[in-house]
Amino acid sequence: MKNYISVNDIYSLPLLIEEAKKLKKNPFEHKSLGENKTIGLLFFNPSLRTRLSTQKAAKNLGMDIVVMNFNNEGWALEFEDGSVMNATTSEHIKEGAAVISQYCDIIAIRAFASLTDKEKDEAELILNSFKKYASVPIVNMESATGHPLQALTDAITISEHKTTDKPKVVLSWAPHPKALPQAVANSFVEMMIKSEADFVITHPEGYELDTAITQGATIEYNQEKAFENADFIYAKNWSSYVDYGKVLSQDEKWTISEAKMQLTNNAKFMHCLPIRRNVVVNDEVLDHENSIVIQQANNRTYAAQVILKQLLEGLS
Ligand code: CP
Repeated sequence: MKNYISVNDIYSLPLLIEEAKKLKKNPFEHKSLGENKTIGLLFFNPSLRTRLSTQKAAKNLGMDIVVMNFNNEGWALEFEDGSVMNATTSEHIKEGAAVISQYCDIIAIRAFASLTDKEKDEAELILNSFKKYASVPIVNMESATGHPLQALTDAITISEHKTTDKPKVVLSWAPHPKALPQAVANSFVEMMIKSEADFVITHPEGYELDTAITQGATIEYNQEKAFENADFIYAKNWSSYVDYGKVLSQDEKWTISEAKMQLTNNAKFMHCLPIRRNVVVNDEVLDHENSIVIQQANNRTYAAQVILKQLLEGLS
């Protein structure tokens, strides 16, 4: 693996999941692999899980870690080639990425969607500029259009908890007061299409994701029908892709409730976190023994660790 930008960088998903599970059993087995190697974690947006689990994963592999919050600690970066930098930006990504590449053997980046400019978001300007101008592997810690570390985590978690070879997995839109990106949902869809699963997406009309991503997936607009016999319910809010970045509905009829979970095959409840209680999901679902959100978050470490291991193995 040269970079981990999207789930399409995965060569064999079953082998990667097995390797992640082995690392989970024995996290320090490859402690010398990352000796004298440094990972740089660059954040343009907030994080709890991604920041801590990626640090822990790197530490488990013996790496050194440097972290930088770009928005309030770094020089304002310029990403446009040929720009006349006489306004607010102080450093071009050309120098920035080249310099960071001398300090770090792997660079991981979090840079969310603006949700105001679809074309720019889809161009993944920040992530792709680092990829273009850095000379070391790049890891996507959630970009404008994808969150592949989360999606790998989700696949590992489903593989640990499934009781049939081909479980029914439902991705359900749920309400949220703020406009959120489509990144988590996009990567989860891509991951489920790659997986052995009976996969259904349910959301209100107007919340269709990019059809280039959902092509081949079943979309059911009736949430209750979608939930029937499900083995996993994965809740997530996203803003409209068609009416880009808009909150079209906060319809609480879409909140995940105990009554809806009763329609499932005793389904496990999943969410990437953070989650708004009694908006996205009711307390009784989140606090139920079938909620595996904490176990899911624990797997963030092993998803990151298996990716860093593969990238380290590809160095030198
Ligand atoms: N799920 C996830 O990426 O969590 P953070 O935003 O806290 O990193």
